[in-house]
Amino acid sequence: MTTPNHDTEPNDDLRFRLLRQLDVAPGQSQRATAVALGISLGRLNTLLRALSAEGLIAISDRPGPDKRARFNYTLTTKGAATKARLADQFLARKRAEYHALHAELSGSGSSFLPPLNRTLPMNSNLTPIQELYVSQDSAQKLKIDAGDLPSWDLTPRQICDLELLMNGGFSPLKGFLGQEDYTSVVENMRLADGTLWPMPITLDVSEAFAEGIEAGQDIALRDQEGVILAILSISDAYRPNKAREAEMVFGADDLAHPAVNYLHNTAGPVYLGGAITGIQPPTHYDFRARRDTPNEMRAYFRKLGWRRIVAFQTRNPLHRAHQELTFRAAREAQANLLLHPVVGMTKPGDVDHFTRVRCYEAVLDKYPQATTSMSLLNLAMRMAGPREAVWHGLIRANHGCTHFIVGRDHAGPGKNSAGEDFYGPYDAQDLFRTHQEEMGIEMVDFKHMVYVQERAQYEPSDEITDKDDVTILNISGTELRRRLREGLEIPEWFSFPEVVNELRRTSPPRSQQGFTVFFTGLSGSGKSTIANAMMVKLMEMGGRPVTLLDGDIVRKNLSSELGFSKEHRDLNIRRIGYVASEITKNGGIAICAPIAPYTATRRAVREDIEQFGAFVEVHVATALEECERRDRKGLYKLAREGKIKEFTGISDPYEAPTAAELVVDTEGYEVDNCAQQVLLKLESMGLI
Ligand code: PPS
Repeated sequence: MTTPNHDTEPNDDLRFRLLRQLDVAPGQSQRATAVALGISLGRLNTLLRALSAEGLIAISDRPGPDKRARFNYTLTTKGAATKARLADQFLARKRAEYHALHAELSGSGSSFLPPLNRTLPMNSNLTPIQELYVSQDSAQKLKIDAGDLPSWDLTPRQICDLELLMNGGFSPLKGFLGQEDYTSVVENMRLADGTLWPMPITLDVSEAFAEGIEAGQDIALRDQEGVILAILSISDAYRPNKAREAEMVFGADDLAHPAVNYLHNTAGPVYLGGAITGIQPPTHYDFRARRDTPNEMRAYFRKLGWRRIVAFQTRNPLHRAHQELTFRAAREAQANLLLHPVVGMTKPGDVDHFTRVRCYEAVLDKYPQATTSMSLLNLAMRMAGPREAVWHGLIRANHGCTHFIVGRDHAGPGKNSAGEDFYGPYDAQDLFRTHQEEMGIEMVDFKHMVYVQERAQYEPSDEITDKDDVTILNISGTELRRRLREGLEIPEWFSFPEVVNELRRTSPPRSQQGFTVFFTGLSGSGKSTIANAMMVKLMEMGGRPVTLLDGDIVRKNLSSELGFSKEHRDLNIRRIGYVASEITKNGGIAICAPIAPYTATRRAVREDIEQFGAFVEVHVATALEECERRDRKGLYKLAREGKIKEFTGISDPYEAPTAAELVVDTEGYEVDNCAQQVLLKLESMGLI
């Protein structure tokens, strides 16, 4: 047998094959490596020296009896990133060679690339997709090396993004976007090289972290328990124009959009771009068997012989309308069905994914088993409507799907601050249609599905020709939540009893759920007094545990080390919010009574809590003059004399709420009466 001679192979391809070989077998003898690559020992030595000089590999001694394998060759982070880049080039060249050969053999005489799935033995949507992980061996070593690197603790959203970057779900991205790609994605929905990509996938960091970082440096990316998941080789650090990003990507710089709110109030001010070297996926303890990477999905489809697969994206429980829609889509596309719900981050206020997955499992047996599958997608949604639909399509194409369902108002964020929809109901379908050929996945579009009582079935609203002669029924998401909240009937035509049971288990009627009453107002406005009265009244009623988080008490315990700078006040309020959200989640009543002078912080706390129960903001609107006149603690006098600095209302701001659930006026009213007003509000909201 003659070994092919690769000594004349283009340098980059050979470098790639060598890096891959060292990655897989770092302790192999030089001879074995040379044989594996089909090159001479001399050529191998020259290459190894070059890679080492460039900092792509580290050479160390290998103790042991095997004289032929004296050295260990380990890929450095830079080496791993280079390997990933060269792998792309290698693949692209091989593909081009293949196509040229095909053109020659088929006599077409053209080097124009024919569609992959006509020529490859396996559908291209089912061939393995490139991941950003290094081999297990290298990962072990890199993890130890990376222990010394500066590290960034990823936010929950960044963990979701990183997982899909590493497993190929965001292919062709190789890392977090650098500035050039970012600008191009924001402005044109394309990477700088022209590839379609609608969503900026960015690593936002704090000012303080960004200060110690520069381009060319590697950092370790850790999950919330400190486990290193990946290494980021920083190509650039830049300050985004967030208002522009909001306008272009989400359609408006309006905080009513959850992703715009996140952008301005949660995301850090600096973005770090660069290639990712994947060490390990984030650990999930829930529904493990139902989570699949793109390659696992592709392998599964190959195994089952599925060639056409239509994916259904959802962040809601499946009701009958969804089932009908998915059945119709599968029929229309003559495809198998993948239920592909999102379990990463969805719209604030959505049904939590634990409940949803139990709901999906409960209805799975209502689908034909041989042609339906379900897998969970750890995506952090942005609710970007049209752009999001295109993004979702690309992600599903990466998971091996050939078709994608886009219904009415896909990934819609709800109303803007003027009370209007952010996007038109079919904008997402229009944008998808424009790009679908390029995306390599076909849209199956549907109009709104409604229930026609006389025919006892769901139909797309645009296909009903006898609208005047039939009864059309529909229950909106808001109406469903109301019925759950108030313990009202949910009809069988709308959902499956199993699903309704699950939802009722998680969302008991409001009168049994936890909630938070959040008093805000100036010092001496009467917050604590009303809050104390409230606590006693609620305890008298019984049924739920009540906790009072009064400003003064919190500052003695939870926040004893904090002062009154903006930063410390925010920290204080976020702590109160955190405790209140835990109480609310666990079915208790939290009564908070801090000054909480900043709108943005109150808003953040509201968001934390509303995931679990109601947040009732009560503005105790006693005027500054009255608070100062009362001056119960003598603090105003001291503040006026300059003996207390940063005093709210005197030398520090108080941003009065504009949309509190209730405003109480303490001037001329008894405490009892004020507390009664709050109780009435709680009653009107169905909370007591
Ligand atoms: S904040 O802004 O929400 O963190 O403030 P909070 O924790 O509610 O403040 C609790 C009490 O601290 C007293 N105090 C001050 N308030 C405002 N500004 C300054 N500089 C300050 N220094 C001390 C004040 O009595 C607050 O109590 P209340 O119950 O509001 O009167």
